[in-house]
Amino acid sequence: MAPIVAQSTTMQTVHVALAERSYPIYIGEGLLENAAVLVQHLPQKRAAIVSDTTVAPLYLDTLVKALTAAGISVTSVVLPSGEQYKDWRTLNTVFEALLDQHCERKTALIALGGGVIGDLTGFAAATYLRGVPFVQVPTTLLAQVDSSVGGKTAVNLPRGKNLVGAFYQPLAVIADTATLKTLPPRELSAGLAEVIKYGLMRDTTFFEWLEENMEALVALDANALAYAVQRSCENKAAVVAADEREESGQRALLNLGHTFGHAIESTLGYGSWLHGEAVAAGMVIAARVSQQMALIDEATVQRIVQLLERARLPTKAPALGFERYLGAMGLDKKVEGGKIHFILLRAIGDAFLTADVPRSALAAAINSSS
Ligand code: NAD
Ligand code: GLY
Repeated sequence: MAPIVAQSTTMQTVHVALAERSYPIYIGEGLLENAAVLVQHLPQKRAAIVSDTTVAPLYLDTLVKALTAAGISVTSVVLPSGEQYKDWRTLNTVFEALLDQHCERKTALIALGGGVIGDLTGFAAATYLRGVPFVQVPTTLLAQVDSSVGGKTAVNLPRGKNLVGAFYQPLAVIADTATLKTLPPRELSAGLAEVIKYGLMRDTTFFEWLEENMEALVALDANALAYAVQRSCENKAAVVAADEREESGQRALLNLGHTFGHAIESTLGYGSWLHGEAVAAGMVIAARVSQQMALIDEATVQRIVQLLERARLPTKAPALGFERYLGAMGLDKKVEGGKIHFILLRAIGDAFLTADVPRSALAAAINSSS
């Protein structure tokens, strides 16, 4: 298939259709400086930006200047950076800062950062004063293609990822693709895991495009990145519009590779493996389980492994042992009636949810992929 590369890097808008909770995702280079895009969504001439110690020195000033020039009075809260800070204690720091600054019910919270800042700020917005307006300004690839869209907000508990949170949609998502230029290569690859996930779960054409364009993405080609963000957001928006609160089983498919990935993250300790890395290794386990159940063949597994490798992602999970994987997966949010639900593949681009997985298939897949 011929490479499809976006025509330009001018702003694209993807719509998340959720009736009264609908919102736009703006994607383009230099959007941080274009305050008008953000300001139109603020209900008050005041906002509080939440960021972290890595992102703030790079982008906070630009955003504050743009908003201030547009007449918005801005407060900021800078949190320590990293998955290990996505917890109650850091959340409380945000509440204290908002109270210190007398932030009101109409003062929007703006999450400027990766998925950790987005998830934590979103949960703060869902609960501070029983709910305040919220805008996502994602700065990692993972956050631009996945976590900033769809309204899942949460903090981690020591026993598991994202175990306490809320569905709370933002008013808008502003993805400035220029911010991706400062991402460490390992973080870029982690984001590519979620990009590959969309192709694998529901979009064969996109998977083929990724096979054609992976090197361009790894080299930060602006057109390729803009297209990957747009197509990923279109996929996510469609799924979220169909099943906002993960009730019909459609949204659960976005968790392809995550059941195993979350087990890796929580067992090794948050921050040891990046979320996207754990998802990559988890998608290989999901593919191997599918192969064990004769749903896909070895050549299909190899296609998946090769694309992940070209994205510089791990394809072997840590050897934690089957029982530890099983124990950690028992706390997964998809457990229903005590049964773990898995997302498996019938083909590339065709994922499905099932609780009907023989223990032997699971054990063989985990043992051979770790
Ligand atoms: P992250 O937020 O920890 O960001 C990764 C690192 O990159 C951090 O150190 C951050 O400070 C730094 N960084 C961010 N932007 C940067 C930039 N432009 N240049 C340089 N450094 C930058 O991690 P992440 O991968 O963005 O997000 C992972 C989190 O997202 C996990 O907690 C995961 O559970 C969550 N998540 C949520 C959803 C959802 O639907 N809500 C979906 C997927 C993942
Ligand atoms: N990242 C999974 C979801 O948004 O549902």
